[in-house]
Amino acid sequence: MPAIVLLGAQWGDEGKGKATDLLGEQVDYVVKYNGGNNAGHTIVIGDEKYALHLLPAGVLTPSVTPVIGNGVVVDLGVLFGEIDGLEARGVDTSRLVVSANAHIITGYHTTVDKVGERFLGDAKIGTTGRGIGPAYADKMSRIGVRAQDLFDEKILRQKVEGALEQKNQLLVKAYNRKALSVDAVVDDLLVHVDRLRPLVADTSLLLTKALDDGKVVLLEGGQATMLDVDHGTYPFVTSSNPTAGGACTGSGIPPTRIDRVVAIVKAYTTRVGSGPFPTELLDVDGERLREQGAEFGTTTGRPRRCGWYDAVIARYSARINGVTDFVLTKLDVLTGFERIPVCVGYRIGDKTYDEMPMTQTEFHHAEPVYEEFPGWDEDISAARSIEDLPKNARRYVEAVEAMTSVPISVVGVGAERDASIVVRSLV
Ligand code: IMP
Repeated sequence: MPAIVLLGAQWGDEGKGKATDLLGEQVDYVVKYNGGNNAGHTIVIGDEKYALHLLPAGVLTPSVTPVIGNGVVVDLGVLFGEIDGLEARGVDTSRLVVSANAHIITGYHTTVDKVGERFLGDAKIGTTGRGIGPAYADKMSRIGVRAQDLFDEKILRQKVEGALEQKNQLLVKAYNRKALSVDAVVDDLLVHVDRLRPLVADTSLLLTKALDDGKVVLLEGGQATMLDVDHGTYPFVTSSNPTAGGACTGSGIPPTRIDRVVAIVKAYTTRVGSGPFPTELLDVDGERLREQGAEFGTTTGRPRRCGWYDAVIARYSARINGVTDFVLTKLDVLTGFERIPVCVGYRIGDKTYDEMPMTQTEFHHAEPVYEEFPGWDEDISAARSIEDLPKNARRYVEAVEAMTSVPISVVGVGAERDASIVVRSLV
C-alpha cells in the first residue's frame, strides 16, 4: 500500500512530469501501464535535456524501480537506445523491469502504421507513426509477439510466421510493398534477446508483493483520457487504455488495491493530431497559448493545437477515472490574458449539454458555451500557496475546481521543477 494512478485528463501533454517530480523519492515503483514510444517527456539532467519516449520517468530516481507493464507495447530498438543514451550520461538503468507479457513492436508494425495513415488521406488519425496501433491490433487479433516469446526461438518463429501470413498479404497486395521474410524479422528480434533476458519478470507478481510489503507504487498512464480507445474521441484516439481501468489491466494490479487517482489537467487545453476539439483557438489567442506554453510535441515536434479550458472534459475525466485529486498545470501560461474564457457546456443544434454528448456526430458539432473570467498580469511563478496568487488567478483556480467537484491538490505556476503550489500531498 498504497497504489496511486497518475494520468492525463485531457488529450495528453498535460505536464505529468510536475506531479512525478513532486512524488519523487516517496515512490518505490513507477509503472508504465499503456502505450509505447508514442509518449514523450523531456527530462533535464544537469545542463542536458533528454527526451524519453518509452522508459518511465522514474528511471532517473535512484530509489525507484521503473517497470514496463504488460499493457505496454515495446520497440526493443528504442528501449535499448534510450537505455544507452541514459547510461552514457551516467544514469544507472539497471533496476528496469519489463513484463514478460508486454507485446513487442516490430518493423512491420511501424511500416503498416505509416503506410496505413497515408492510405487514409483526409481521414488520417495523425498517429505518431511508431507502430503503436498495429502492434495493439495484433495483440487483440492474437498474432502478437510478447517479450517472453523471444526466449523460445521455435515459438518465436511460429508466431512470426503466423503474423507474416497476414501482414505480407497486406503489404504486397494493398500497400504495394515487398514481402518480409520470417528469418529477417526473427533475426531483428533476436539481436536484442541477451540484453532483454535479465530485465524480464512477472511484473504483476512483483508489484503485488511490493504492495504487500508496504511499498508505494505509482501507475503512470501514457497519453490521456480523451485518447483512450474506449472512452476517448474514437477513432481519433490511441490504441490503448490510458484511463484508470487500464492501470489495472496494464499492470496486473487489481482495482481494490488502488488508493488514489491523480489526474493532470492543464489550465487550458491542447491536442496533437486530428480529431474534434471544441475549444480550439485558430486565432492570435491560440498562437499566444502555443508560444507562452511552448506547445510543441516532444515525440514528433508537431505544433500542438491550443484552446481554452474545457470543464465538460474535466468533469468527464473525473467520472471515468474516479479522480481523487487534480493537478492543475501551467496556470502561469494564462498570465497576461485580459479575459479568460472557460467552456462550461456545449451547444449542439438547439440543445445545450453539460456532459459529453453520446455520439461522435454530436461532439463534432459541439460549440463551446463560455463563462469568462478576468485575467491577471502579475508574475505568479514564485507563488507557493494559493494566498500568494493574485485575486483573479485564485478566482480562476477556485472556479474550475468547483466545476468538477474534485479538489485541486497541486497548481503548477512555472517551468521550474519546484514551481508548484501544493495544497494537499499526493502520497
Ligand atoms: P498513436 O498513439 O501513435 O497511434 O496516435 C494516435 C493519436 O494519439 C494521435 O492523435 C497522436 O497525436 C495522439 N498521441 C499519441 N501519443 C500522444 C502523447 O503522448 N501526447 C499527445 N498525443 C498523443
